[in-house]
Amino acid sequence: MPDELFDLKVGYVSFRNPIALAPMGGMTDSEFANQYAADAGLVILGGYNLDARTREAASQMAARGREEFISEDPLGLIENEVGSIKTGSAVAVNVRSTTIEPLLEAAAIIRDKGAILELDAHCRQKEITDIGAGQALLKDVPGLCEWIRMIKGTGVVLSVKIRGNVVGDTALARSIENAGADILHVDAMKQGAGADLKLIKEIRDSTRMFLICNNSVTNIDNAKEMFARGADMVSVARAVLDEPELISNLVRDISSIQRDMGWYNAPKHVCRGEGDLRGLAFCCLPVKSCPVHSNIKKLGLTPQQFADIKMDFAKGTMLEYGDSTCFGSLVWCCKISKPCFLRDGVLETLGLSDAEYMRLKKGLGDYILEQAGKSASGPKNG
Ligand SMILES: Cc1cc2nc3c(=O)[nH]c(=O)nc-3n(C[C@H](O)[C@H](O)[C@H](O)COP(=O)(O)O)c2cc1C
Ligand code: SF4
Ligand code: SF4
Repeated sequence: MPDELFDLKVGYVSFRNPIALAPMGGMTDSEFANQYAADAGLVILGGYNLDARTREAASQMAARGREEFISEDPLGLIENEVGSIKTGSAVAVNVRSTTIEPLLEAAAIIRDKGAILELDAHCRQKEITDIGAGQALLKDVPGLCEWIRMIKGTGVVLSVKIRGNVVGDTALARSIENAGADILHVDAMKQGAGADLKLIKEIRDSTRMFLICNNSVTNIDNAKEMFARGADMVSVARAVLDEPELISNLVRDISSIQRDMGWYNAPKHVCRGEGDLRGLAFCCLPVKSCPVHSNIKKLGLTPQQFADIKMDFAKGTMLEYGDSTCFGSLVWCCKISKPCFLRDGVLETLGLSDAEYMRLKKGLGDYILEQAGKSASGPKNG
């Protein structure tokens, strides 16, 4: 599969596709990743316990039957494990600590290996939260942000793994982004209800960070629901144990979607409240009373500014054409999955494939968000 099919880059790391193996302490080491995640775009190893207190907590967890990675030399172990990955995918290392020093040491090693450090602000095992690590980091957001700033000082590409619905997630995402993290890995768990798709959309609309979404993905259909709400990447943990081929199947299916559609994580239309703000790329000229107005307001734009931004992007591209469409230009046209003989007739005349049309719409979605960020008032929720 060609690497260029997806254009996914964060700092010095490139991902060949948007499917990741999520970390499971005591299980997801290099051997596991090589066996179950050979086709993944990203494998996340760990979580590793970096200091004496997390090591002690992990020993207590192991004593009650939970598998854990416990080593007197976690940095040596990490270096060796990253070097043992044979999948050709990007690698991240999920780590827990109660103090910053071992995180900085790990960051330097991980950076030199071209990998990603993932800070575990997610683990909710009592032994870990009792000592202020894992999910307990979310209770002190300024402290978490200070750690993020210090870790980023090493130059490592940094992911922060959080559990959703623990604290105010949109404010948390903005704080993590402002502190300098590159990636937000969200376990969108909703107690007793699988993944919280609404939460993913809300987080997407509050940050431009690379977003990895996680929880209860077992097939391409539920992965697609996350992609359509703005996930740049989807990660899987438990389901890999039940279906060892799951990651390969997800990679195959999302690659085929990308080939056919040109925008693997295209949003839904914003009409029914499901589409994130990138979905404004599919919106009509804002002349009628509909949800486009509340959405452009969130971006701090007037209807005229929104129209100008779209027309500005269209200039010189194929989206300029389309006299016979509802609003006289493809720039106002719907997602390719919405059947429309008027738009499709124009695409045929222009010789523009569905994938090329959607790639232009992706560029348009990015452009709208960029321009809104630059506007005087700026995004109202972003
Ligand atoms: C046995 C087990 C161990 C886990 N260990 C970690 C860990 O060390 N660090 C972490 O960030 N998440 C850990 N997780 C959470 C997973 O990465 C993932 O967020 C969670 O299982 C939900 O995804 P899933 O529905 O695909 O399993 C663990 C999950 C399981 C089941
Ligand atoms: S402008 Fe069109 S696509 Fe957008 S919300 Fe209104 S009706 Fe839906
Ligand atoms: S011409 Fe079709 S695709 Fe374009 S705006 Fe009208 S209904 Fe949507």
